[in-house]
Amino acid sequence: MKITIGSDHGAVELKEEVKRVLQEFADIQVTDVGTFGTEAVDYPDIAEKVCADVVGGRADRGIVLCGTGLGISMAANKIHGIRCALCNDVFSARMSREHNDANVLAMGGRVLGFGPAGEILRVWLTSEFTGGRHARRVEKIMVLEDRGK
Ligand code: RB5
Repeated sequence: MKITIGSDHGAVELKEEVKRVLQEFADIQVTDVGTFGTEAVDYPDIAEKVCADVVGGRADRGIVLCGTGLGISMAANKIHGIRCALCNDVFSARMSREHNDANVLAMGGRVLGFGPAGEILRVWLTSEFTGGRHARRVEKIMVLEDRGK
């Protein structure tokens, strides 16, 4: 699985921790689009870079991080084809995959400790979309997206 990851300055340390957890998965290749320092950057720019890889087929999934996860998830969800789930708990992470087929995970570096973030990430990576009635609902999300153009 190819994953593109990015964060603003509010989650640089969490991004490094997420990359450490991703190393547990032998079949995952990671592309890091930054940011790499503490200088302030704008989270929509990071969301755009990560999501461009997902919608462009260069990544199977994306991970976006900012201080709260709020701004960057809002930005990601403005991009056609992105279903970004802001997850602060393991149950939401599993449901975001099984029911919502989320293709981007958002977390907040100023919200989550490394332990909970790692568990959320592991569950999100290993949970699969269950389809069925949920497929119909996800299709309806995408119809709403098309109508909003
Ligand atoms: C940056 O200070 C902060 O606003 C950002 O990381 C994020 O929390 C926005 O939602």
